[in-house]
Amino acid sequence: MDDTSPPPHSPNLPRPPAGAAGAAPQPGPDEVALVIDDRPVVVKKGTTVLQAAEKAGLLVPHYCYHPGLSIAGNCRMCLVEIEKVPKLQIGCATVVAPGMVVRTGNERVRTVRAGIQEFLLINHPLDCPICDQAGECRLQSYEKDYGRGVSRFVDEKVHSPKRYDIGRSVVFDGERCIKCTRCIRFCDEISESHELALFQRGDHAIIGTFPGKPLDNPYSGCTVDVCPVGALTWKPFRFKSRVWFLKNVPSVCAGCARGCNVYLAAFRNRLHRMTPRANPDVNAYWMCDAGRQSYAALYERPRLERPVVRPSAAAWDAAFDRAAELLRGVAKSRGAGALAGIVSARLSVEDLHVSRKVLGDLAGISRLAVPPHEDGADDELLIRRDKTPNARGARLIGVGGPSAGRVKEIVDDVAAGRVRGLVVVGEDLLELPGVTTALLDRLDVLIVIDWWKSPTVERAHVAFPACGYGEFEGTMVNFQGRVQRLRAGVRPAGEADPVWRILRDLGRRFDLTSEYATPAAIFDEVAATVPAFRGLSYKVLGETGAPAAEAVAGEAYAGGAPAVGGAGLAGSIAPAGS
Ligand code: SF4
Ligand code: SF4
Ligand code: FES
Repeated sequence: MDDTSPPPHSPNLPRPPAGAAGAAPQPGPDEVALVIDDRPVVVKKGTTVLQAAEKAGLLVPHYCYHPGLSIAGNCRMCLVEIEKVPKLQIGCATVVAPGMVVRTGNERVRTVRAGIQEFLLINHPLDCPICDQAGECRLQSYEKDYGRGVSRFVDEKVHSPKRYDIGRSVVFDGERCIKCTRCIRFCDEISESHELALFQRGDHAIIGTFPGKPLDNPYSGCTVDVCPVGALTWKPFRFKSRVWFLKNVPSVCAGCARGCNVYLAAFRNRLHRMTPRANPDVNAYWMCDAGRQSYAALYERPRLERPVVRPSAAAWDAAFDRAAELLRGVAKSRGAGALAGIVSARLSVEDLHVSRKVLGDLAGISRLAVPPHEDGADDELLIRRDKTPNARGARLIGVGGPSAGRVKEIVDDVAAGRVRGLVVVGEDLLELPGVTTALLDRLDVLIVIDWWKSPTVERAHVAFPACGYGEFEGTMVNFQGRVQRLRAGVRPAGEADPVWRILRDLGRRFDLTSEYATPAAIFDEVAATVPAFRGLSYKVLGETGAPAAEAVAGEAYAGGAPAVGGAGLAGSIAPAGS
């Protein structure tokens, strides 16, 4: 695991500010100055000792505290010593005070932590070799750092249900649970679905669901993320890969217009899971179950792996030459108005920019339409009705936002014989209303660029294999107007190439002179030529993106923290790890 790729379940601590030790910053009117482990720290009033320590780059170990949930204070792992306070205090619930002097790792604190570890592990099974959480489990990490390393417990452990189906996609192991209640608080405060509760007392206490109400909400996977141990596991990921083999790549989900920040986890050139990555402006710490599993389509649909010039596979150059020849043929015999294009709002900003240049400016296709894909309704947390991740980007680039009307116009013109040549990028036309195979057979020329062997690809005169989700880099603009980077987690299947490169090479048959060597170079051109992207670059976007310029009429940035349900969450999105 490299430095930029923290495992999703581990704390991601900020580095201590340079020169922090010894400096004595002055607090402002809303700030408090204190000393933690001999480091002067200045934090906002109301900050807890644990959060202040994290700000100073000091880890206070914790199980039940999560920055996106209310404070429960039940695990006691975060005990710290505060000068002039006789008993150790829990850092997660103790608010800083001016002049406070805190010690987070002296002998007294470490002795107590070792006791907490021993207590939590008394009834814990030795499951690590078969536990999916091994490698990112806090019990393991903290035992290594603070535990005794041996057990003094010789009696029979308390047994609880194992491999228990607690919901649609989540498996519960009662023996591994440390009763931190993070999962319960998630269901009460964030999803507000209230499926989970703590039943029984003492060492018989157990997490469970109410009769007839399994853990089955659109965000149930987040309970797995917040579980600090291996008690809740995500069914589709169980036993797929040991986590230390996974390469976690920061990216964004393309399942809807929200663009939740995620880690793509890959092993042996295969994506194995998606987990949320904290971004206070977009998704806080969460993502939906549908988005979490959206990468699976890459392995469920048949891939288009080589260019095709109907009826057989072809070399790239032959396919580009043929596609250009066919498009020129229609323009010559029927006029440029007989050409149209349908491009997807699932394409990146870079793909759309090159589409507009090559298809619009060079190939003379004056009509490009973007189909809408809507399903259900916006919810109050993250899920958007608009299932295209870059509809706003398409509008800003000038291709036009998704429009059923524009698509219908083109479909009607195909039916009437006015459109004879169609270029389709990233869409299966047969999913669109009014499109049938008979309609596609009316076309003289159908050129398709897509990542899978869709029914539209099967009817194409020339088809080019594109990269699927997780195989290409680029940027997308979410519904708030935030520009965010997508990264590749795996190598493309077969000969698949990014859409921008396919279009660039097709464009060279139409005298495209731009080099377009990398997506970053294309984005730089976008930033230089499209007002909404002014001042942006991959460097400026960083890991969490940046708002598009607000000056575009009617397209102002609608950023800020997502609406989250439950009490006490607004403004509780701290930059610390989970
Ligand atoms: S299942 Fe996990 S998150 Fe829930 S109480 Fe147990 S340890 Fe905590
Ligand atoms: S809310 Fe949308 S962007 Fe977020 S995880 Fe779900 S599908 Fe993906
Ligand atoms: S008591 Fe503070 S993190 Fe659990």
